[in-house]
Amino acid sequence: YLSDPWLGLHGWYLGTSTCNEWQRIQSFQARPDDLLICTYPKAGTTWIQEIVDMIQQDGDLEKCKRAPVHHRHPFIEWARPPQPSGVEQAEAMPSPRTLKTHLPVKLLPPSFWEQKCKFLYVARNAKDCMVSYYHFQRMSKVVPDPGPWHEYFEMFMAGKVGWGPWHDHVKGWWKVKDMHCVLFLFYEDMKKDPKCEIQKVAQFLGKNLDQELLEKIVYHTSFDVMKDNPMANRSGIPVSIMDQSISPFMRKGTVGDWKNHFTVAQNERFEDDYEKKMAGTNLTFCMEL
Ligand code: A3P
Repeated sequence: YLSDPWLGLHGWYLGTSTCNEWQRIQSFQARPDDLLICTYPKAGTTWIQEIVDMIQQDGDLEKCKRAPVHHRHPFIEWARPPQPSGVEQAEAMPSPRTLKTHLPVKLLPPSFWEQKCKFLYVARNAKDCMVSYYHFQRMSKVVPDPGPWHEYFEMFMAGKVGWGPWHDHVKGWWKVKDMHCVLFLFYEDMKKDPKCEIQKVAQFLGKNLDQELLEKIVYHTSFDVMKDNPMANRSGIPVSIMDQSISPFMRKGTVGDWKNHFTVAQNERFEDDYEKKMAGTNLTFCMEL
């Protein structure tokens, strides 16, 4: 594994390895019964993956521990030869498949729309995403080093981070949510009322959860339990790839940690810029609980 620099592609930043496989990713063949988990990085991908898996496996913990959660659902744009790419893993998988992507609407392989797949999008407020992404880039050795916080802040504001600008990502998915079969969830709602949000996911997947099963899923997918679960906390990943002594993957799992990072001046700049970039959308975020 070598650090994978971000490259510009169609106006978005993606890892070099993804860009190298771009044609194969774009020609990916979705199937009508695919479920695609979609997120901007650090929005709670691992969390929603564990929730979906628990629902699909009817709460069977043994089945949910069959592999680390980030390996259970092929990551469409993942490509690091000689290992099988996300596309190859998905192709080898029986239906119905649950897949994962961080791609923005504009870069999604077209067959997902053509096949009228189900999409489960989780959005997290930009400030907490930025903070979480910064710490992730500090500890992950396969993505660029983020440099000092004040420099990372500028990079994120300029959208020069992997999977591009947060604003365009969330706005893009918000815009298509009523035209396609999209369940649009918020990380902050999942924190505030996990029971209610997990029920929404179950309904979307056509499953009925009784009270006991619902409570089991809420417990098993809570931050503290996932942090201690080796199948969720990425503890099996070698230090040469993720050095969790720098920052753990399951870091804080809270809403509002940005307040411990943003200076007053940074917050003012961020808010100014945010207002411009989010003008004209009715998409709103909760930034603290
Ligand atoms: P923090 O760095 O703010 O703690 P992703 O899986 O998309 O990479 O997102 C990782 C972020 O989700 C991290 O945020 C991580 O702690 C948080 N997270 C993971 N599991 C969670 C859970 N069960 N509850 C709340 N947050 C969770």
